[in-house]
Amino acid sequence: MSDSPSPSLSRVLVTGGCGFIGSHTVVELLEAGYEVVCVDDLSNASPKVLDRIAQIVGDEAARRLRFFKVDISDEAALAEVFDETTPKAVIHFAGFKAVGESVAKPLAYYSNNLGGTLSLCRVMDAHDVRAIVFSSSSTVYGDPDEVPLTEASPKKPATNPYGWTKWMIEQILSDLWVADSRWDVVLLRYFNPIGAHPSGLIGEDPKGIPNNLVPYVAQTAVGRRDVVHVYGNDYPTPDGTGIRDYIHVVDLAKGHVAALAWMAGREGVEIFNLGTGKGSSVLEVISAFSEAAGKDIPFVVDPRRAGDIAQNWADASKAAEQLGWKAELDLADMCRDSWNFQSQNPNGYEA
Ligand code: WQD
Repeated sequence: MSDSPSPSLSRVLVTGGCGFIGSHTVVELLEAGYEVVCVDDLSNASPKVLDRIAQIVGDEAARRLRFFKVDISDEAALAEVFDETTPKAVIHFAGFKAVGESVAKPLAYYSNNLGGTLSLCRVMDAHDVRAIVFSSSSTVYGDPDEVPLTEASPKKPATNPYGWTKWMIEQILSDLWVADSRWDVVLLRYFNPIGAHPSGLIGEDPKGIPNNLVPYVAQTAVGRRDVVHVYGNDYPTPDGTGIRDYIHVVDLAKGHVAALAWMAGREGVEIFNLGTGKGSSVLEVISAFSEAAGKDIPFVVDPRRAGDIAQNWADASKAAEQLGWKAELDLADMCRDSWNFQSQNPNGYEA
């Protein structure tokens, strides 16, 4: 895998660069030698992340990082960032991402996620920047007819507004290329990102009650939550609980660096699944996390969560063949690093 900066794409603007996946990707970009322009409105991220990134990468690399507190929906402000920094490519993470919240607040999700993307694309086009990596999701596959999922597996109707925004943004970017073949689009469909940087300095720190399994397990392990709620043990799976393809966030971040190297000088739209190719059940995750934390983690079985599917995992062979990238870390690594971050930061980035 070649991860040295492509001369033509050596300066990358990262929207949502202070978020969970964004911050880990900024680290890998800096360590691969890129200049990074981090744009984040900090609505769902802490400014402390920037200091933590600098600690991880060291002074030289940190000098290649610039930060702008901007909401990408503010087109004028975003245009000023482009004027000042002249990025060559964009990695687009910024967006609301809580499945349950999206059901309660569809207008906020469509306005923010779609409106922000349209603003970003207009500003990119106006500045002759048309290389974009989009943070998509396996959620666009819906409830699969068969697993593992390949990039040719059919997209299905989403089961919530969050999933629809991922679905629709893929369509928006594809239609941009149909209208103007200069667009160079990579859609990265993540499976379930978990874990943290091995330093323990950055990790997953959702606001409020975590929607996702692993941050909830981590907060239970550190004493912030009483008990893990397992959403159903009557699925058609070996132990009855839901199966997902959990991928270490550092592996995922490296996948973005590989995608940037691959897409330099190209045009078109290309899709890659970023997963490990291995499924793990809820109970397996709880067990692995207990092992990592060196303590039992209490759980109770509740009814299924509306909208959940029984299982999905990736066929990630296309990324291996074309990007020269594959996940290297396993569930034990993911739980070890997640616990390391959570135990060093019991209340996340807040003191
Ligand atoms: C995983 C498994 C639950 C919480 C979603 C989005 C995806 C991505 C990740 C944002 C399932 C079970 C969960 C809990 C549980 N989006 N579970 N108790 O739903 O696969 O994916 O989040 O980054 O696009 O679709 O992830 O972690 O919520 O659930 O039992 O408290 O854990 O039923 O089987 P999901 P998840």
